[in-house]
Amino acid sequence: MTTRSITDRLGGLAFGGDYNPEQWDEPVWKEDDELMRRARVNLATVGVFSWALLEPEEGRYDFDWLDAHVERLHANGVAVDLATPTASPPPWFTLAHPDALPVTPEGTRHVHGSRNTYCLAAPAYRNAARRIASALAERYGDHPALALWHVHNEYATLCWCDHTAAAFRVWLRERHGSLDALNAAWGTAFWSQHYTSWEQVLPPRATHWHGNPGQAVDFRRFWSDEIIAAYREQRDAIRAHSDRPVTTNLMLPAYQNVDLWNFARELDVVTSDQYPSSPGLDAAASVAVHADRTRSLGGGRPWLLMEQGTNTVYDGGRILGKEPGDILRHSLGHVARGSEGALFFQWRQSRAGAETWHSAMVPHAGPDSRIFREVTQLGEAVSRLGELAGSTVTGSVAVLDSPDAWWALGVDGLPSSRLDDYHGELVRAHRALWDAGLTVDFARPEHELGRYRLVVAPALFLLSDEAAENLRRYVEGGGTLLVQHAAGFVDDRMHARLGGYPAGPLREALGIRVEEPRPLREDQRITLSDGSQGTVWSEVVRTEGAQTLATYTHGMLAGGPALTRHRSGGGQGWYLSTRLDDAGYAALVGRLLTEAGAGPDVPGIPAGVEAVTRRSSDGRHWQVLLNHTAEAVPLPEPAHDLLTDAPVRELPAGGCAVLRGH
Ligand code: GLA
Repeated sequence: MTTRSITDRLGGLAFGGDYNPEQWDEPVWKEDDELMRRARVNLATVGVFSWALLEPEEGRYDFDWLDAHVERLHANGVAVDLATPTASPPPWFTLAHPDALPVTPEGTRHVHGSRNTYCLAAPAYRNAARRIASALAERYGDHPALALWHVHNEYATLCWCDHTAAAFRVWLRERHGSLDALNAAWGTAFWSQHYTSWEQVLPPRATHWHGNPGQAVDFRRFWSDEIIAAYREQRDAIRAHSDRPVTTNLMLPAYQNVDLWNFARELDVVTSDQYPSSPGLDAAASVAVHADRTRSLGGGRPWLLMEQGTNTVYDGGRILGKEPGDILRHSLGHVARGSEGALFFQWRQSRAGAETWHSAMVPHAGPDSRIFREVTQLGEAVSRLGELAGSTVTGSVAVLDSPDAWWALGVDGLPSSRLDDYHGELVRAHRALWDAGLTVDFARPEHELGRYRLVVAPALFLLSDEAAENLRRYVEGGGTLLVQHAAGFVDDRMHARLGGYPAGPLREALGIRVEEPRPLREDQRITLSDGSQGTVWSEVVRTEGAQTLATYTHGMLAGGPALTRHRSGGGQGWYLSTRLDDAGYAALVGRLLTEAGAGPDVPGIPAGVEAVTRRSSDGRHWQVLLNHTAEAVPLPEPAHDLLTDAPVRELPAGGCAVLRGH
């Protein structure tokens, strides 16, 4: 088993990125060595997409070139995060195993010429992946340069082929036990979908009209388990030869093909990739939500930012590049929230290939560039933060996140297609709390929530019986809970809750019953008695013990509850039956924080300054401060800043500090 943490091996926080020396030659490697020293790089991720070079033909491995790079990095003081190359099978694989290529719902089979072209359920792919992982582990498993194993890259590819169909049936038998149970779960009495043999059951391929919601959500669950099983096979093959920690880089963008909570449990250290899609303060908020989610997936354990960009990613005409200073600010934003370092995709910008225009630590322009200077400045900063290694961050409030609920909002035939912005709703709830200075944890609705003063549930369309009961207990035990519109409308089989939404125990906690959904058209807004406005959704709500705090003012809902509060046990259950405008939502969250007695992570910090506390188990703590304003901001009291190794009294415009607590 794993013997030491990455930071123990590195002697501090990690700094570096994906390194693809196979795209270059000797003079560039020499320059890389020199520039890595200059930038204080201590960790390089190698081999991520190197399958074609590592196994030039089936079963014949060529490790000589990789040996040379690993030795060179080691001699240069750079540790290695060694990847298995399985996200990009080589062309020979395609030709030898055409059945292992992915098929779209419409039946198109993809071919090589890009990456991620494989079907995870295909035995030939799984065997080939396990074999190369094992061969790499045998060769490098105890190499002194090796600090971390990086299995695959951003597991996400979906497939609807016949291998998938066969594996899906095995999974369904396991979950449902019998065809009768499957028919009942999927509600196949509707539209003549009744199955009389397992062979008739398919993955949700393209259909002529709405697909079956139960089938769609089960397919997502199945595929998630398939991904995790594929990861485990590689991890176990590696562990047979190596005691170094094993991970895979999770991707937490606006879509989700895996249950990240389940996946994170399998990782020795949780790692993830982050690319903000908008500039300025929105980018800083996006760093924060990403970091808070990644940390929460690992239950608060230290984690590692595996990838970010130094500048533009893909289409810079739509998504602006980073501003001067963002390389440091964003990286410290991640470190503030528990990352054990800051890594990038990639070290040197490619001169050819599909990502030629993706930014890197050493840009096409070379080291005499703003970007490399900022990278070097960041390397210096990270090298001064070694004492933070192993310290952790805890939120006092939580936002609920459920993969099942996310998948449920992606099915056909919902009461409004405008509900399908799960990620957007999660981010919005986080943003309101982040703006108010709180450090936020994410939690599954089934998790123990008792330590949170406030819990926000923004998009729980699907809610299991167990989760509904858990939320009831949370309120009963003294918690403050905000549940937002269209919550708990279906159970975990996608069956509608009868007798009024949401699920029974949650109705009890909220003291309301939703009788009728009233989705709003795109051009429609609805006004509340407190002056705020709702979009997307509204509902006919009956109070059953709750107090009405705001009503709707117009139309058939006029006078009906829009926002309610119910005191139950020691706590309060709030229900908001529409999607409030930003100002109204921020005001509501502010009010809830006051009621719940929750405040900023670091009190007394001026507006526009982000402040987060990291604590070590021996009682030391550090405050990471990021000034997002264009003005210098005085600090409440002078303190020692690790970045400058000097006392600071104020943060310059856009400046950062890491203060050692006393
Ligand atoms: C992901 C991948 C990288 C690269 C970046 C682009 O994070 O892991 O290989 O494609 O996206 O931003």
